Amino acid sequence: MRLILLLLPIFLLSNENNRTESFLSDIEYGEMLYNNPRGIPCSKCHGKQGKGGHKIAKYYDKYSNPKILKGADITKYTLKELEASLSNRFRDKKNHRVRHKIMPIYYLTYEEIRAIYLYLKSVKKKSKY
Ligand code: HEC
Repeated sequence: MRLILLLLPIFLLSNENNRTESFLSDIEYGEMLYNNPRGIPCSKCHGKQGKGGHKIAKYYDKYSNPKILKGADITKYTLKELEASLSNRFRDKKNHRVRHKIMPIYYLTYEEIRAIYLYLKSVKKKSKY
């Protein structure tokens, strides 16, 4: 993965004749940010495509029962909800504030959040087939 990130700028530069086409699309930009959002990658907890479901951690509750924490599916949120979530201001359907116990706060711009949103939407569409 690191190698790909290192090679990406070289690839983009070496493609000068084709400048406009070699530029990242919003969705590709969103995919990059999803995996490298200046913090822990979203993919670590929400899976490669935002569908969650995989194990983040195993822990024991106060009765010593083993529990597994799974990542949430985040492919069905609106752009507004995503914006609120990333700054830990998310509200559920009953307008109750959901305080994050685990998810960190990110410092992404509106454009960056929008790109992540478009990436998640593209994944949702693709996976129908
Ligand atoms: C360390 C694990 C972790 C990382 C990294 C993470 N999340 Fe989350 N996310 C969670 C958990 C757990 C929840 C459920 C709320 C909670 O307990 O924090 C959640 C909830 C959400 C929700 C649902 C709304 C809400 O706020 O409850 C969205 C949307 C979301 N995450 C998007 C993202 C995006 C986008 C990124 C990357 C920029 C990201 N998450 C990174 C663990 C993580």
